[in-house]
Amino acid sequence: MMKKLFVIGSTAVVAILSIAFMLDTPAPAQEAKGKNAQVSEARRFVNTYCAGCHSQAAKASSSEVIREAARKLTLDTLNVDNVGEEPERWELVVRKLRAGMMPPSGLPRPPGLEAFIENLEGSLDRALVKHIPPPGLHRLNRNEYAHVVEDLLGIQINPAKYLPSDDVVRGFDNIAAALTISPALLEGYVTAAGKISRLALGSITQPVQETFRVPEDTSQDYHIEGMPFGTRGGMITEHWFPADGDYKMEIHPISKGNMGNTGQFGEIPGEKLEVLMDGERIALLDWTSDYDRRNGHYKVEFPAAAGPHTVVVTFLATNYAPGSDLNKHFLRSTLETGGLPGFRFYPHVGKFVIDGPYNATGAKDTPARRKLSFPFTTSAK
Ligand code: HEC
Repeated sequence: MMKKLFVIGSTAVVAILSIAFMLDTPAPAQEAKGKNAQVSEARRFVNTYCAGCHSQAAKASSSEVIREAARKLTLDTLNVDNVGEEPERWELVVRKLRAGMMPPSGLPRPPGLEAFIENLEGSLDRALVKHIPPPGLHRLNRNEYAHVVEDLLGIQINPAKYLPSDDVVRGFDNIAAALTISPALLEGYVTAAGKISRLALGSITQPVQETFRVPEDTSQDYHIEGMPFGTRGGMITEHWFPADGDYKMEIHPISKGNMGNTGQFGEIPGEKLEVLMDGERIALLDWTSDYDRRNGHYKVEFPAAAGPHTVVVTFLATNYAPGSDLNKHFLRSTLETGGLPGFRFYPHVGKFVIDGPYNATGAKDTPARRKLSFPFTTSAK
C-alpha cells in the first residue's frame, strides 16, 4: 500500500514521506549510541536526521523513495568528522541543505540545522587550505609601481617610459604568476629607480625632450575646458620639468597637408598664439609673422623651476560670432587637410615639444624634497 501511494505524485510524496520515514527507519540514533558512546555532534545529527534515508540499511527499504535516496547517497559510509576525505560529497550535502531541500520538504526542519551546515562549511574550508599553494612573493606591476612612486615622492611618472609591459595570466596582471622577475627586469627596475630619483630631486643635467600631441578627435574652434576664458583651441598639459633651468618649446601647427606643405591650416588671419605656464603668459606670438616656415614651427624659450607645471598653448579668442560658412564644420577639425572650398577654419595647434633643461642648476625645491624630510646637499652633477 505504501508503494502505491508513492507513485501517486510528488505532492503526495511530500505529505507521506514523514510516515514512511517513521515506519521504515531502524532508529539510527540509538544504534549509533550502542556502538560508540563518543559520537560527535555532527555524526549524531546525521544519524538522527539523514541516515533514515541515506544509509546502507535504507537500501533495503520497502519504499522506492528511500531506496532512491540511499542509492544516491549513503551518509553512514562517509566520515562526517573528516570531511576532507570526500569533500565533493560533503559539498553536495552543503548545497542541498543551504537550498533547504533536505530533509525533503514536508518533514520538520531539524533543530541545530544551521549550526550543522556552518560547521560543515568550516571543516570543508579548513580541509581545502592544504591544497591551496601559499601566496607567492611578487613584484609590483607597472601601475602599482607608479602609484608607490607617487605616494613616496609626490611625483607622477609614466611607468611605460621606464619598464616593459607586464604579462597577463588568466586575465590578471597583479597576481604572482604574472609578476615574476628576471635578471634583466631587475636591472630595469634599478635603472628606473635611478632615473626617477634624479627626477624627483631635480638633479638632472641632460636635456630631455617630450612631445605633446593635441588629441585628434577634437575641434579647436571653441574654448577648451581648463583653459583661461577668452581663449580658443590649443592644448593644456601638466609637464614635469626635470630641473631648474632654461627650456625650449617648439609649437607645430596643424599644417596644410601631408604632401610636405608646411603652410598652416586655417584661413582666418591675424590670430594670436598665447603660451602660459601656471596661468602666467610667457609668450604671445603672431600666427603669421612669427612662424618659422622653413622648420614648420614657432619657437619659445623660457626659464622654469623643477617640478610640475601646467603648460597651456592656445589662441586668443578673436571672435565668438558663428562662422558664415554655408557648410557645417566637421567636429574633427584637427585632421591635416588642405584648404577646403566652402570652409573657413581657424588655425589649429598640432603638437608641441618641450626640450630641456639647458644650463641646469639642480633644484631648490621639488615636491619630493618637501616630502622627504632629510637635508639634501646635492646640486646638479
Ligand atoms: C525522508 C527521506 C530523506 C531524508 C530524511 C533525507 N533525505 Fe536526502 N534525499 C532523499 C531523496 C529521496 C533524495 C533523492 C531526490 C533528491 O535528490 O532530491 C535525496 C537526495 C539527497 C542528496 C543529493 C544526492 C545526490 O547524489 O544527488 C543529498 C546531498 C541529501 N539528500 C542529503 C541529505 C541530508 C544531509 C539529510 C539530513 C539532514 C537528508 N538528505 C535527509 C531523501 C531523504
